[in-house]
Formats: sequence, structure tokens, C-alpha cells
Amino acid sequence: MTQSSEAADYDPFEEFDRAQGAGRVRDPYPQWAALRRRGPVCETDARDLVQASKADGPVNDITPEGLRVFATLSYDAVSQVFRDGRTFSSSGYAQSMGVVMGRSILQMDAPEHSRYRDLIQRSFTRRSLARWESELISPQVGAYIDRFAGRGRADLVKEFTFPFPVTVIAHMMDLPEEDHDRFHRWVVEITSFGFARERAMEASGRVAEYLEPIVEERRRNPGPDLISTLAEAELDGQRLTNEEIFAFLRLLGPAGAETTYRSLSNLLFGLLTNPAQLRALQADRGLVQAAIEEGLRWEPPITGFMRIATRDTEVCGVPIQAGAVVRTLVGSANRDETRWEKPERFDIFRPPKPHLAFALGPHRCLGMHLAMAEMRIGLNALLDRLPHLRLDPQAHDVHITGEIFRAPRSLPVLFDAESPI
Ligand code: HEM
Repeated sequence: MTQSSEAADYDPFEEFDRAQGAGRVRDPYPQWAALRRRGPVCETDARDLVQASKADGPVNDITPEGLRVFATLSYDAVSQVFRDGRTFSSSGYAQSMGVVMGRSILQMDAPEHSRYRDLIQRSFTRRSLARWESELISPQVGAYIDRFAGRGRADLVKEFTFPFPVTVIAHMMDLPEEDHDRFHRWVVEITSFGFARERAMEASGRVAEYLEPIVEERRRNPGPDLISTLAEAELDGQRLTNEEIFAFLRLLGPAGAETTYRSLSNLLFGLLTNPAQLRALQADRGLVQAAIEEGLRWEPPITGFMRIATRDTEVCGVPIQAGAVVRTLVGSANRDETRWEKPERFDIFRPPKPHLAFALGPHRCLGMHLAMAEMRIGLNALLDRLPHLRLDPQAHDVHITGEIFRAPRSLPVLFDAESPI
């Protein structure tokens, strides 16, 4: 059978969810809590890493003899690793996502990393986002809600949180609307690298083929979009090569789409399963920011990342050898009981405290302001337009699932239908 990414019998979204552990790993949190009780850092079996790397790791099929793997579990341990990019290198991604995306900023270390990151950072500042918020995010959110607001019921994952963030990124790149569906498909296939390598590589090639004429055109006629920003960017007087631009764009798709869809879904799940908090939020929109932060703390969309130790060092007193893999378990750190009371509870009334969903240090999420804007606008619009929003009581066992990538697979809801104008 053809492996083509256009194959009709293959649904990359279903495949992706399944392979990330959806349905297999329902709740990894108790296991991390048990490990945390033993200490802030623990050495784990490299074979566990191969399992985990199916979703996120730098060493897919290879576990070199003698490879040591450490998991950082507490807030302080994970923060220390993220902050110190010199001791904890991101270069390991070259062997996983880098193979399929190309050489992106995700796998670069200082000083190369900041030179490349600076080229696009200004497109993601709060100030630059103001235009995208009014011209793009709000109308897109409105258009998706229009499709179900009159129905009185919807699946908020399939009809809202899944499709809308990728549409935003595709618009920011100014891709023609008729191409958005296949762009989304390629994005998902590229992210599925850990379990469908051939398909991911094929999608990566297709993205390059597809983008090449667009990049050439933007070099000649630049506009206010992300591809033009990269096409015009210069490092030491040199324009970026097409391959460098493709690597950036292959990263921005998954980084922008996967995470935001999962974060907003997890937040909605938290609210729908805690109706008193949902009602409080409906009555006082001043709580929206706190609700978003709590959603990200409680159920971050990606629960673990990777670094490689560049020298013999220690984290929270635990010695770590040069060359060891260091996993940063954000999911565990965000439920550190020395920092948050009853961390397993979703509670939008907690006193505000920084969490680690966006990481820290040099690789801290480039798109965090965009993600926050998308969630804020999306959540407010749902609250404005869907009165008496609630989980469908007929829905069976709605829950968040997955080990590294987490989200509910569906959110069936009921609400008072909007009457036709
Ligand atoms: C709620 C949604 C999001 C979450 C929780 C999130 C989380 C993260 C995290 C934890 C990292 C660090 C990864 C590492 O160092 O290994 C990261 C990096 C990154 N994120 Fe996000 N992200 C989100 C949304 C977005 C959006 C909307 C974009 C924009 C397109 C984006 C673009 C990026 C990029 C380009 C990087 C690489 C930065 C670097 O290596 O310097 N992210 N993100």
C-alpha cells in the first residue's frame, strides 16, 4: 500500500493521537508523584526513554551502550535545567525532530540559537500581535463558532480547538485558504515522526516542494507575513537559504498548532468538569487570565522535553555525567506539592505563581503571547456566545489522555442555541 500522505484510508489525526499514548496512558501523574517522593531527580532506565521517545525524544531506535538517562521532576530541578542552556544542550533534537524538520532553532545552542531566534522574535512580541488579534484571531474564532452556535450542541475539540490554531498559523504565513487543510495534514504528519518516520519524511519533502515557489515569490514581493519576514531576514549580510527557511516553517506549524489546540482543550475540560468555576468565570471575565494559567499548570499540552548534559554536573545535588540525557518533566514540575497546595486540583482561584508549561531560559516558547491571545479570545468568545455551556450528560467518560502529548479526544457540549438573525 502506498505510504503517500494523500492516502485516502489514512487519518493522520487519529494515528497521531493513538501513537502518543491516547487510550493507553490515561493518567501519568500518580507515577510522577511517586517518583517525586523519592527525590527531585531520578535516574531512569534508558529503555523507558525509547518508549517515551516515540513521542518526544532525541534517541529513537538507538540506545547507545551505557547511555544514562535522568528525569528531573521538581519545579526547581526542571527550572535549573531549562535555564542553563550551556550545561544542558538542546542538540539532541537533531536526532529526532531535526531529522524531519531540518535544522531549526529548537536544536540550536548559544550563540547560534539567539542569532536565528532574533530573526523572527519580533513577529511574536505582544505589540506585533495586536494586529493579528483583531484582524485574524477574533474573526477566525467567530467563524468557527458560527458553524455550531445555532445547533445547541457541538464537539468543541473537533469543531473548534483542533482546527482553529493551525488556521491562525497558516494565515500568519499568508498561505492560500484552499491549502490550509493539506498544510494541517503535513503538520500532523511531521509531528508523527516517532512512529511513522517514512510518512513524516515524505510530508517534510512535500512542505519544501510546496513552499519553494511561495518563498521565491515573497523574496520578490514581501508582505507583512511570517514567510516574508524570513525571506527578507539577513545574518551577517547574507539572506537565509531556502532550507533554513523551510526548517523554521516546519517548526512553526507543529509548535503553533499542536500545543495551542491541546492547551485550550485541557482548559475547557477543567472548566466543564468544574461547573462552579465555569459559572464564576462567566460572571467575572477578570478571571480569564488566571483560568488560562491554571489550565497550563494543571494539564500542560506537552509534559516532557529533553536536554543533553555537556559536562559533569549536578541538579539538586544529584550528580549527572557528561553525555547523559536529561528529561525535563514539566508535567511533574507543575504539580510539585512544595509549590502548590493540592496540585492535582484544577483551581482558577489559586494565588498566581509561574508554571513551566512554556519552559524557561533561552528556548522559552517563542509563541507564548500568541498562544495566550488565542486562548483568551477563544475562551471569551465561547463564553459570550454559548450560554449555559455544559458537558453533554449523555457523553461517556470524557477525559484527558496521553503521556507526553495530552488532550481530551472530544468535548461534547450542550448550550442554548443562538437564534438565527
Ligand atoms: C499553549 C501553547 C504552547 C505551549 C504550552 C508551548 C510550549 C513550548 C515549550 C515548552 C517550548 C520549549 C521546548 C524546548 O525547549 O524543548 C516551546 C518552544 C517553542 N514554541 Fe511553543 N508552546 C505553545 C504555543 C506556541 C505557538 C502558538 C507558537 C507559534 C508559532 C510556538 C512556537 C514555539 C517555537 C518556535 C519554539 C522554539 C523556541 C526555541 O527553541 O528557541 N509555540 N514552546
